[in-house]
Amino acid sequence: MALRPYIVGNWKMNGTRAALAEARGIDRIAQRHPGVEVAMAPPATLLQAMAHEATHSVIGAQNCHQESGGAFTGEISAPMLADAGARFVIVGHSERRWQHNESDSLVRAKAEAVLAARMGVIVCVGESEEKRQAGLAEATVTAQLKASLPLVADAAAHLSVGYEPVWAIGTGRVPTVQDVGEMHRAIRAVLVEVYGEAGRGVRILYGGSVTSENAAQLLAADEVCGALVGGASLTAERFAGIIMAAAALVEA
Ligand code: PGA
Repeated sequence: MALRPYIVGNWKMNGTRAALAEARGIDRIAQRHPGVEVAMAPPATLLQAMAHEATHSVIGAQNCHQESGGAFTGEISAPMLADAGARFVIVGHSERRWQHNESDSLVRAKAEAVLAARMGVIVCVGESEEKRQAGLAEATVTAQLKASLPLVADAAAHLSVGYEPVWAIGTGRVPTVQDVGEMHRAIRAVLVEVYGEAGRGVRILYGGSVTSENAAQLLAADEVCGALVGGASLTAERFAGIIMAAAALVEA
């Protein structure tokens, strides 16, 4: 793996203050593996507490609003997340795209808002099972990506892409290592087309049912530079195996 592996835990709508003990445990594992960049995206209610305590892991958010402030009841803006200690924001997660009807252009606006607030951004893309079965996985993902990527100056320097097949999220089903490699190569080609040489430095993360059992295999696939982990990031014990699998690849 040429780029420093990036292992990101997405806690989704899980965790109360009792879960801060798990975050502390994850931070201690991160301390032992400096070759890996360990990040966690807790629910917004835990962001400040986790950011305050984390010393070896990076804390970010799962979503933001595209505007910096105003009459948007219940929303949180990128500058507010940065103020609470977030250093990155995930945008375009499939649960946002499908459950909240987020379009590619909205995802792009959110990504640009995150960059304007001087944070890193993870832009997520992924095909449905229907598209994969129709042989349209690559066309779907590359089209989504081209329409979602932030287009502001220097965007590539603060960008990661999460490839998450919708049918693999939370299901225990994963694509073959070959399919992951093929998709990541296609994503890399889009990144180079959009950003030129800077596109080669963007980390592409695989997400969808990553566990400590399959992490080593998935992380070794072509152009995979890390993982976006849901369920298996909720406890230090389970997340540790994934961080260690990434560490083994760089320490080898
Ligand atoms: P999962 O979720 O690891 O629970 O499949 C991944 C994600 O949605 O980021």
